Order: sequence, then C-alpha cells, then structure tokens
Amino acid sequence: MTLTNTTPRPLIAGNWKMNGLSAALDEARAVAAELDRQPAAARVAIFPPATLLHRLAEAVEGSFVLTGGQDCHDKRSGAHTGDISAEMIADAGGTLVIVGHSERRTDHGETCQHVAAKTEAAIAAGLEPIICVGESLAQREAGEAVAFVVGQLRNSLPVSLAGKTFNVAYEPLWAIGTGHVASVDNIVEMHAAIRAELIALFGEDGRAVQILYGGSVKPENAREILAAPEVGGALVGGASLKAKDFLAIIEAA
Ligand code: PGA
Repeated sequence: MTLTNTTPRPLIAGNWKMNGLSAALDEARAVAAELDRQPAAARVAIFPPATLLHRLAEAVEGSFVLTGGQDCHDKRSGAHTGDISAEMIADAGGTLVIVGHSERRTDHGETCQHVAAKTEAAIAAGLEPIICVGESLAQREAGEAVAFVVGQLRNSLPVSLAGKTFNVAYEPLWAIGTGHVASVDNIVEMHAAIRAELIALFGEDGRAVQILYGGSVKPENAREILAAPEVGGALVGGASLKAKDFLAIIEAA
C-alpha cells in the first residue's frame, strides 16, 4: 500500500483473548524486534489478557508495538469484583482498548448501552477505543445483516466520541474463530454502510474513523481483505498468537 500524508496507517490489532501465559511474552518481543528491524506501514497493537498487560507493555516499551486491554469497565473504580477500569489499562501501559467484542456481548450479556458507557470511560482515560460490531449467521441469512450492524453501531457510540480518535471493528460472528472468512463483497458492503453511518453521526469527522475487519484473518487472506475499499486494518484473533503469522499479516497491510 502506498501511504500519503492523508492516508492513515492501517491498524493491525492482535486480540489474544483468554490465551497466553508468561512464555507468550516472547511472541510479543519477537514482533517488536522484527518491526525494529523492518518498520511496518501499519500501526501494530497487541491486546493480551489482563494478567500480562503490564509485563507486555514493559517488554515492548520503546518499540513500534502498542498495547491495550480487551475490555474495560464503565466506572473509574469501585466495588466491581473482577473488573478492570480504563484508567487501570492506561496505568499498566496500554494506549488502546477493545470494547463490545461479540464474546463480551454474548458471554457477559453486554448491551450496546454498556458498550457506549465503556467507550466513554475509555475516552475519559485517554485510551483509543476499538468498538466491535457484527451480525450472527441467522441475521445474515435473514438478510438483516446491514440493518442490524448499523443499528448496533449507532447504539454503541456515545455522542462524546465526536472529535475523538476511535476505530470500529466489523466482525461477523460466524467468521470469528471458524475459518469462514467473510467474502470481500460482504466486507465492502458492510464497511460502506458503517462509513455512511459514521458520517451521519459525526459529519466529516466520520470519514477519519478507521474501520477494521475481523474474523478468521490469516496470512493467506490478509492482503486481499486489507486492500478492499474502506478496510482500515484488521482485528486478528487466532493468527495473532504466533509472531510469525501475525508478522505476515502486518506485512500484508
Ligand atoms: P479470529 O478472531 O481471528 O480468531 O477469528 C477475531 C476476533 O474475534 O477478534
């Protein structure tokens, strides 16, 4: 990809989910070392489990690798056993946070209203959020995918995002961890609908928001996906766990 001053650098985000013990820090170190040797066109971020965030942030400090949390609470602090605030993520060295991932929406019953509140908390803590949206297979088969995702997006974005830096990730549920990647046509159609909604909500600022695709992104399909119109990066799960695969995706951007 040829970058001009007006083309934002794509964001390649690695979501480790509930994977990774101490030894996994070596994968992050390997990514950082390779990017030091050969700087990438993309911005690169790793989202480890919360237990590794601080150590990972220290391990990649001074490198091109950014890091962040996989979720945050909507309150700054308090009696919320097991939760982590946006401020804690920033304190641990994170600069970004994923909110509204479908696994959070499904496993923890997070509604769009929760996601919007978490996004507000992320912005208040100075983090750059990645807000996730995506339809189920049943919704796609019923022809409701675009309407559902656009509605989910509208309800997950707080008005306070106006003028702030944030990203949206389109992740169809049926493509996550399944090996069934969405077709480029599906991706292009959905990203165009997301862009139109972002412009409707935020005016010209809506054009600057980067829209990531997520769902079975692999070294083999990354180049085609990342070259598609309105694809501003990728949110990568399984293929981000090994430095070699993740670097191949970064290199494709
Ligand atoms: P996957 O996960 O790349 O393993 O499909 C993507 C995600 O859920 O962010």
